[in-house]
Amino acid sequence: MKRIAVLTSGGDGAGLNPCIRAVVRTAMEKSVEVMGIRWGYSGLIDSDMVELNARSVGGILNKGGTFIGSARSPEFVTKQGQREALRNLNRMNIDGLIVIGGNGSLTGALALHEMGFPVVGIPATIDNDVNGTDISIGVDTTLNTILDAVDKIKDTASSHQRAFLIEVMGRDSGYLALMASIAAGAEIVLIPEVETSMEEVVEGVDNAYVKGKSHCIIIIAEGWQPGARSLNDYLKEKREEIGFDVRLTVLGHVQRGGSPTSYDRILATNLGAAAVRQLLEGPHGVMTGMIKNTPSPTPLEKAVAFQKKLNLDLYGLWKTMTL
Ligand code: F6P
Repeated sequence: MKRIAVLTSGGDGAGLNPCIRAVVRTAMEKSVEVMGIRWGYSGLIDSDMVELNARSVGGILNKGGTFIGSARSPEFVTKQGQREALRNLNRMNIDGLIVIGGNGSLTGALALHEMGFPVVGIPATIDNDVNGTDISIGVDTTLNTILDAVDKIKDTASSHQRAFLIEVMGRDSGYLALMASIAAGAEIVLIPEVETSMEEVVEGVDNAYVKGKSHCIIIIAEGWQPGARSLNDYLKEKREEIGFDVRLTVLGHVQRGGSPTSYDRILATNLGAAAVRQLLEGPHGVMTGMIKNTPSPTPLEKAVAFQKKLNLDLYGLWKTMTL
């Protein structure tokens, strides 16, 4: 291959810049040119590309976000969008593509692979719900951001003897909520994978009060139903029964920004370099994930077949720590 391209797609996260940097510098060492595709698959359809070199990826290792931009592209889901993308890749003499993103983005990569184009994926999603990798790029930084926020909220919660509902990201996945609950010490965790009724939450908050705790931290995944706002209203109605006054904090997109942690920088650099080697040497149509600390290929088909299951043993671990 003489010229490859790289794109970041879907929800961003910390570590995308170090990953692009690793792709570019590994390719350049092998005398392969790299084009950066701007705004994910939308840029591929619009042929919005920029040539990258060792210097243009300088100074981005510590920066959050993605300097080539990302997008969720509804056009690329259509056959017509995919054909347009393929046409642009061929027109620009691009021999192979690296796609950095989560399940949706890797499904897009699979579509290109099935059309015969050489593609390699790299898992990057704060939700950590991609198969074929122990961890995805961005997860560690987001968890640390959540911990920082929860630790601070705990201070004020204890000062005022309050219960706090803290909503974290995870539209379909309770990974961040559960890990944050273990690492920050939450009294209650609410995730889509485990059914919990509002009555059980009332009971849990009351328990924390009766045990003499000075606060009650409830971490809620965005995807838990009926949702943090409904629960907030419900707990306010039950104020007399639960002992604590309640406040709600929705962390939102603060969780996606910020400088990548050392873990994310090293993970992203490793996977970026491994993906280039994979693209140059084949086989293609795989995702380069990190399995047991070793960059390892998994067929894209398998990586996106279903959402990675949460290890519910960790739910038991969290529960033990709430005693
Ligand atoms: O897919 C990653 C994710 O961060 C989810 O956890 C969250 O629900 C979603 O993206 C938010 O997406 P957007 O930035 O498009 O609102």
